[in-house]
Amino acid sequence: MKVIKEDDLDKAIESLNKGNLIIFPTETVYGLGANALDSLAVDKIFAAKNRQSNNPLIVHLKNKEEINKYAIINNDVERKLINYFMPGPFTLILQKKDLIPSNVTCQLDTVGIRVPIDKIAHKLLEKLSFPIAAPSANKSTKPSGTNVLDIIDDFTDSVDYIIDGGDSLIGLESTVVKVIDNIPTILRPGFITKEDIEEVIGKCHVSEYLFKKADGQVESPGMLYKHYAPKTECILCDKEIINDFIDTTKKVIVIGHNLNITCYKYYDYGKTFEDIAHNIFKLLRQADRDKADLIIIEATSIKSLGLAIMNRLIRTCNYNYKRYNENS
Ligand code: TXA
Ligand code: MG
Repeated sequence: MKVIKEDDLDKAIESLNKGNLIIFPTETVYGLGANALDSLAVDKIFAAKNRQSNNPLIVHLKNKEEINKYAIINNDVERKLINYFMPGPFTLILQKKDLIPSNVTCQLDTVGIRVPIDKIAHKLLEKLSFPIAAPSANKSTKPSGTNVLDIIDDFTDSVDYIIDGGDSLIGLESTVVKVIDNIPTILRPGFITKEDIEEVIGKCHVSEYLFKKADGQVESPGMLYKHYAPKTECILCDKEIINDFIDTTKKVIVIGHNLNITCYKYYDYGKTFEDIAHNIFKLLRQADRDKADLIIIEATSIKSLGLAIMNRLIRTCNYNYKRYNENS
């Protein structure tokens, strides 16, 4: 895999045209992309990522006018969501048209559609005659890739080019929404929050699986699997009791904000939700490189963007959440 810059997009385009894989930046996280209309190229994504064959991919389009080519907009709620939140960090699950190969959606009759707003992603899509199918650029189970250094070793043999766009602006994946019985339902929370959607539509549900383990039939298959986890064991912990879990004979890395503690290493993840979203995946990968025995991550509230952060962290920690007050 070669690292290229924005002014070398033609190389990435040539690869995509040949049915090969590239990695490209978006405003959320990096994507591992292939021609979405070429089922053989799409197969390569599943192989490179070790991705389960029942976890569908998001299709990235250059603009929202293109949606009608690949999917059917069935009601005004879907239409409104598209108008307000696209382009941007927002994925809408729509009824699929036949042009999209069945392996992209893992045989579902729906397809996740996203129009990225990132300048490089947009420029790349504009130059192509097809959309890009892309999951986050990480091996399955690992934290999503938000910068070149974190991704490069995982895909040396399977990907032709990675387009370096620096650190991902947001750092967490898009909000995934499906309209069910005319009500938007958040299957995966993200930068576009429940509150943002309520402001536009009035009502918005969230999946019951954001904080608990899913099994069997779920709306979003991605929720079934281990995810966002570094190699090192992690626990999620309320600020007040972090000290109780620090064993000073072990290499314990603590990730949080403004904590005054003694441990092997302390990383500050920033003050605001935006800071935390931007930094968290990168810090988890750094903790692996620093060869910790345990990572303790300070829990946040679940208000607004906190919902997306905590949804990822609870999985990072394999549901191991130490609470200060069980009733809080
Ligand atoms: O920000 C993002 O969404 C990034 C960038 C690269 O666009 N992509 C991303 O893709 O996070 P991935 O594959 O890591 O996550 C896609 C999520 C999974 O949880 C998957 O199950 C869900 O979207 N999904 C995709 N198509 C779906 C469908 N037809 N029905 C329900 N869920 C779907
Ligand atoms: Mg992913």
